[in-house]
Amino acid sequence: MNTAAPATDLVVTCSGLEKIYRDFWGRPKSRAVNGIDFEIRRGEVFGLLGPNGSGKSTTIKMLLGLVFPTRGSLKVLGGSPRDLAVKARIGYLPEETPLYKHLNAIETVEFFGSLFGLPQAECRTRAEQLVEMVGLGHVRTRPVGEFSKGMARRIGIAQALVNDPDFIILDEPTSGLDPVGCREVKDLVKLLAGRGKTVLLTSHLLADVEDVVDRTAVMYGGQIRAAGTLEELLEQPGHRRLDLSGLNVEQSARLDAFLASEGLAHRSQPVRRDLEQLFLDVVAKARSEQVDSSGAQLAGKLASHLSGAALLDQLSQSPAPAPAPFATPSPEVNAAALEKILAPTVETPAAPAPVAPKVDDAAVNAKLNALLGKKD
Ligand SMILES: Nc1ncnc2c1ncn2[C@@H]1O[C@H](COP(=O)(O)OP(=O)(O)O)[C@@H](O)[C@H]1O
Ligand SMILES: [Mg+2]
Repeated sequence: MNTAAPATDLVVTCSGLEKIYRDFWGRPKSRAVNGIDFEIRRGEVFGLLGPNGSGKSTTIKMLLGLVFPTRGSLKVLGGSPRDLAVKARIGYLPEETPLYKHLNAIETVEFFGSLFGLPQAECRTRAEQLVEMVGLGHVRTRPVGEFSKGMARRIGIAQALVNDPDFIILDEPTSGLDPVGCREVKDLVKLLAGRGKTVLLTSHLLADVEDVVDRTAVMYGGQIRAAGTLEELLEQPGHRRLDLSGLNVEQSARLDAFLASEGLAHRSQPVRRDLEQLFLDVVAKARSEQVDSSGAQLAGKLASHLSGAALLDQLSQSPAPAPAPFATPSPEVNAAALEKILAPTVETPAAPAPVAPKVDDAAVNAKLNALLGKKD
């Protein structure tokens, strides 16, 4: 892992971190985390991935000062995780959303706001905006004890943002959410990162994080088995994927023959939309037709602060303009929405430069064009 980042840009540094849970008699029960090293830089989205039981939640609990490391060193926001000033700058969505079932959605977020010492009026304003933002505006006064798992996840995300945290830790944020909810959480995470927030999220569903994280560590058995940027981890040297549209049968056959003559192993098949996009399109279309659904309404008016305001506005009940694909929130509207609740813009660190492919795209494209345009 690259350790060149200046210390002031490091939100988390840990080395040799280990956690052994013990039973009542002090005997080792499980080695949940087994000597891990990693760092998280300011403004990045860091994914802690791994199957159930691999140690992700325990790692997070150590970062939050909820669990003592058995060994190793750990710094969060330049201090100890047990320091109250550090805790005040962290927003946390636990794996299981603990809710007071008799409080309604607004009261729940207000309650968490009050724990941070926010003035009552400010708590109310933020609660209203956050509840709207996570798509629960229509059930804002309903007791959270009646919420489905997905709705509980949403209210959990709202409470995690009430203190306008610098560092946001989301433990399995997409668990229990339908694909629309997953997409929105991912858009929200990107938006927060764009505002200079640092985000750590965990998941055992890789597709749920693949397009949001800058860097990731994959855990198994309490250890980090792989770490790096997605490009570093996923790129397969020598492999290229070309998406060609408007190809007719003859061109396709010519292309196959050319690739075979070059001795290049290849697989040529029609391109399909992915299932997630199909799902999102179906929902967007149904919403534009005002089809009734008793499920969680994805955010109505994206209040003012954090979320994919444009995205949610597109989906809201009001005479919506033509349905737009979910994955295209307007950055301007989102940014304006964020302004209202988030602290003044922090200096956003430059996004890590993507690893440039070594292949000369222009040359490849020119060759392909020549080939496909060629007459027999
Ligand atoms: N409080 C605890 N007491 C004993 N063992 C625990 C406790 N919490 C977690 N573990 C064990 O530690 C391992 C890692 O758990 P966890 O950190 O929750 O993993 P993950 O979040 O990746 O699913 C598991 O084997 C789990 O059973
Ligand atoms: Mg967990």
